[in-house]
Amino acid sequence: MRKVPLSESLRIIGRGSGNWVAGRPLVVSFEVTDACTCYCKHCDHGGPKEESRNLKPADYRRYMETLRPCVVQVSGGEPLMRPDLVEIIRNIKLDSGLPYTILVSNWSEMTEERYLALRAAGINQFSVSLDFPDARHDDFRVYPGLYDHLSYIVPKLGALGHDDIVLNSCITSENVGEIGALAGKAKAWGVNLCYSAYSMRRTGCRDYFLHTAEQLETLNRGLDEVEKLRDSTNWIVNSPSTLQATREYFKNVGTPGCKAGLRFLVVTADGWLQPCSMQFKRYRLEDRERMVEEFTKTNACDECYVSIRSYLDKSFPQLLWENVSGFFSFKTSQA
Ligand SMILES: C[S@@+](CC[C@H](N)C(=O)[O-])C[C@H]1O[C@@H](n2cnc3c(N)ncnc32)[C@H](O)[C@@H]1O
Ligand code: SF4
Ligand code: SF4
Repeated sequence: MRKVPLSESLRIIGRGSGNWVAGRPLVVSFEVTDACTCYCKHCDHGGPKEESRNLKPADYRRYMETLRPCVVQVSGGEPLMRPDLVEIIRNIKLDSGLPYTILVSNWSEMTEERYLALRAAGINQFSVSLDFPDARHDDFRVYPGLYDHLSYIVPKLGALGHDDIVLNSCITSENVGEIGALAGKAKAWGVNLCYSAYSMRRTGCRDYFLHTAEQLETLNRGLDEVEKLRDSTNWIVNSPSTLQATREYFKNVGTPGCKAGLRFLVVTADGWLQPCSMQFKRYRLEDRERMVEEFTKTNACDECYVSIRSYLDKSFPQLLWENVSGFFSFKTSQA
């Protein structure tokens, strides 16, 4: 995975440290639309949605000036459904290079032109969902032809050499046996890989969680295999401690200590603040501190270990070390 240049790394870490002390979020996830091109089995989005109240590109500047995050995720729904996505990114990105900006997408609508335009506008990392290393991906996402499209466009754009594409595989009971094969696919396509973990909270469906001893064994075997594949290029993007915490999340059916609302938060397509994408208590931008008081300080929810949590539930020194050693410029060795 491409490392952030030293000067930019220092700015990100500087702002992150300031936000940590000031009690402002480090990461903000903008869900720029609720609509989606897919109908994934594990997700509550899917299909067309009412879009008339969506924030306009220029509105994002006000959120950035108030929240001042050092990392932004642009997500949805399916963010590539917004024809004005490049303009949104331009309003999120500052001249200083901040924030580090990740586009989380299913890539059904990705083209070379859009990839290059989004890079030029300021996307640092393209996170591409892939649940299976073959056409079972189409069945799970209810989008015929999606896997074929990805197997064409991902290696093609990976070959441009920017090293900013990361496959994002959400581990479920359906694909737990494919952990190693998904890593093989990332390698074959010349891109990076990040695992995340299924949460029952999004849809209430228990079927895709790992419940049996056999499923947990398969998970551990798959992740053991992945640990052996790490090398100095950082192409397995999760840190070892995050993959260890993923094993514990499934084994213990949850991970306590969530800082949603404080260390990270979601801005909905129509401009409300939410603690996370699966907690629907909504606040106005001006009421962020009230969200921390009312929600975060008493939050006992432990029902996910999605990547936004896995970055941020750690202590500040651990977080800094993992990012400094694994992600930003001054890499020494894996934490
Ligand atoms: C909600 S989607 C939005 C962006 C885009 N549509 C996509 O699929 O990448 C973001 C990520 O959430 C994951 N996701 C969906 N449902 C989930 C669940 N129940 N638990 C954990 N992750 C989930 C998806 O696999 C995807 O990688
Ligand atoms: S996971 Fe992404 S692609 Fe699938 S339905 Fe949800 S928002 Fe759409
Ligand atoms: S654990 Fe935290 S981030 Fe996850 S669903 Fe619960 S409140 Fe949201």
